[in-house]
Amino acid sequence: MRLVVGITGASGAVYSWRLLQELNRRKVETLAIMTRNAEKILKCELGKTPEDIYGLATEHYDIDDLTASVASGSQPFDGMIVVPCSMGSVAAIAGGVSRNLLLRVAEVCIKEGRPLILVPRESPVSVIHLENLLKLSRAGVIIMPACPGFYHRPKTIEALVDFMVGRILVRLGFEQDLFEPWRGNVT
Ligand SMILES: Cc1cc2nc3c(=O)[nH]c(=O)nc-3n(C[C@H](O)[C@H](O)[C@H](O)COP(=O)(O)O)c2cc1C
Repeated sequence: MRLVVGITGASGAVYSWRLLQELNRRKVETLAIMTRNAEKILKCELGKTPEDIYGLATEHYDIDDLTASVASGSQPFDGMIVVPCSMGSVAAIAGGVSRNLLLRVAEVCIKEGRPLILVPRESPVSVIHLENLLKLSRAGVIIMPACPGFYHRPKTIEALVDFMVGRILVRLGFEQDLFEPWRGNVT
């Protein structure tokens, strides 16, 4: 499997970090693309550099390189996940404004009918955010807001992060062992 992992400047850089680690574990080929703001958030939240992220990916592309192979629908890849996804990028994808490579690859996924998963993070959300997300959902985009559950009784931030990453992996068709699924055992 060959997946594009897009990383934007919403809070939650750790989700992309953990997802790339888990995709690696499953021998998935990953193509990473980060926005400029994602680089800043990555430094602020995790103290890491883009090179650290790229070290987890099979390949990476410059956000401004609109001539990259993945900018074309003729290039085979199996889908894309944008995690975390800023509301700015949500709006641009919903509006079909492909002003950088990440947005263009998202557009390619929609037009080619390939899976596109967005993991938005914002609170509160405005009517503009909601309308953009609705429009994308109607276009077949999978919207997975970064809002972990608590029914697995997380004790650490890592457990909360892994809940989201586990859910994303399942949505991509993988098995996950990052959290205990709900088994109906209310005690
Ligand atoms: C510290 C920090 C945290 C941010 N968190 C969010 C967020 O959680 N969600 C969001 O939509 N935008 C957030 N933003 C704003 C985006 O970074 C901004 O809208 C940017 O233009 C997004 O561009 P990009 O999608 O190209 O990365 C944050 C900005 C900063 C500086």
